[in-house]
Amino acid sequence: MSILVTGGAGYIGSHTVIELIEAGYDVLIADNFYNSSPKVIDRLQQITGKSVQFCLCDVCDEKQVDNLFSRHKDIDCVIHFAAYKAVGESVEKPLEYYSNNIGGAMCILRAMKKHGVKNFVFSSSATVYGQPEKIPCDESCPAGSATNPYGWTKVMQEQILRDICAADKEMNVAILRYFNPIGAHPSGLIGEDPNGIPNNLLPYVAQAAIGKFDSVRVFGDDYPTADGTGVRDYIHVVDLAKGHVAAVRKLYTNCGIVTYNLGTGKGYSVFQVIEAFEKACGKKLKRSILPRRAGDIAENYADPSKAKAELGWQAQYDINDMCRDAWNWQSKNPNGYKE
Ligand code: UFG
Repeated sequence: MSILVTGGAGYIGSHTVIELIEAGYDVLIADNFYNSSPKVIDRLQQITGKSVQFCLCDVCDEKQVDNLFSRHKDIDCVIHFAAYKAVGESVEKPLEYYSNNIGGAMCILRAMKKHGVKNFVFSSSATVYGQPEKIPCDESCPAGSATNPYGWTKVMQEQILRDICAADKEMNVAILRYFNPIGAHPSGLIGEDPNGIPNNLLPYVAQAAIGKFDSVRVFGDDYPTADGTGVRDYIHVVDLAKGHVAAVRKLYTNCGIVTYNLGTGKGYSVFQVIEAFEKACGKKLKRSILPRRAGDIAENYADPSKAKAELGWQAQYDINDMCRDAWNWQSKNPNGYKE
């Protein structure tokens, strides 16, 4: 029995592959390296000491996906990471986002139906809560709004999965709503490698720390939070990866459709993150206070107690661990996977 990991060479996918292999699962990665590098596969082999099965595949290509399932009859679960994820880009390119994110998931789900595969883990996001009704935000908070096409692809796919599970009682689906994954594998061999100027806070801070930027941009210091900057629930990517292993175990109990927040339950402000990173890298970072970024909310952090109760999963790493591992990755790989 093996687990197909689409987008398994990507940031969260690659960390999840390690945790799955270490938990004893057979894994097959499908990726087209749209936003990742073939080097990841070598590094995964280096970290795990095992040969990692890989298939070059575009999840939007029906024939390629069907071939993959035909050749690998042992697949009995899919973890679907392969998707576009940049909020700003999705506003510029809505058609590409809906086609790729929804089209890719539909293609995989059709192949699963044809080949009788019944277990699916979906990468959703805290973005589905929009402006959350309450904070900390639990899974009962209304989750049907978004402020950008990327977010809408997550909202829509969640609904599609609920409809599929209502029609097929043998399907098991885990919808995982990620908060803000940061950090890197402690080996420093894999980590986040965004294209161009990073959109997210942590990669921007890490690149400022190696001298690629003069200062860290702070989008707004006039929010109604303790220090005026935005507050988020940052979670170590290794903890997030372990959450996927716990979700797979849950699927194998024939649980039907389940939804979990994956976060730590703690919120940190932009200033607190910068301070933790300064501690990790041993230098002071200049800050540029800019206006608020359109679409940002003041604060959001998870109530992760449902995942703890039902999956037996809980984040272990704190913000200092996250920054230490992010710095270890960034300083060892100043240009990410590029030469
Ligand atoms: N921020 C800065 N400077 C930057 C980048 C971000 O001050 O250079 C601030 C933002 O204003 C926000 C916080 O840092 O207050 C976190 O911003 P990120 O861009 O790192 O993360 P977001 O919370 O905006 O978005 C992330 C993912 C989305 C996902 C969302 C779910 O990028 O894909 O979490 O809550 F939808």
